[in-house]
Amino acid sequence: MVLISGSGSNLQAMIDAQNRGAPFRIAAVISNRADAFGLERARRHGIPAEVLSHAGYPDRDAYDADLRALIDGYAPGLVLLAGFMRILTPGFVGRYQGRMLNIHPSLLPKFRGLHTHRRALEAGETEHGASVHFVTAELDGGPLVIQARISIRPDEDAESLAARVLGYEHIIYPMAADWFAQGRLRLGEDGLPYLDGSRLESPYL
Ligand code: GAR
Repeated sequence: MVLISGSGSNLQAMIDAQNRGAPFRIAAVISNRADAFGLERARRHGIPAEVLSHAGYPDRDAYDADLRALIDGYAPGLVLLAGFMRILTPGFVGRYQGRMLNIHPSLLPKFRGLHTHRRALEAGETEHGASVHFVTAELDGGPLVIQARISIRPDEDAESLAARVLGYEHIIYPMAADWFAQGRLRLGEDGLPYLDGSRLESPYL
């Protein structure tokens, strides 16, 4: 199950991985925006594409309750947030604890939230990247699964940095989904991530 809000290039990377024989099948794609291009990507590949617009909902709890019902109708083993640009309620996050992943365009814990590439440049960082993590109630704060780290070039602007980071997102996110689908990746009862039974301590690619 993949949740999106926009272009869906990470969704496309998942679809491509599935078509190459990855051990998962995308049950459906849900977008909170009807104009998300990712919906078109899903349809092209025969994947059910659902829209649940947040417009008209009185609050996050009401929206998240309906989102939960929609997701649970597909009974997914894993929920992937792929550019799903909504803050989720603790109740929603708790329901999918240990089986919901997110990809974020920074080297978490640095630069949570928005405009990560511009902020990394403004902060004078020499390295930047992307992170896959289990989702917890803390925004962009859950246990790290894998990160891709790249050097920032001297002449780099936010646009070129975003494009380069996105390319690595497309590598690490399907890897993490693959691990999970094989039963290799799990969130321990201690709240820490494990790969092949060992604590994941150095999540850099
Ligand atoms: C990606 O860069 C993803 O990391 C980011 O949104 C983009 C979605 O692109 N997610 C976040 O910022 C979440 N905090 P895509 O729709 O082409 O996959």
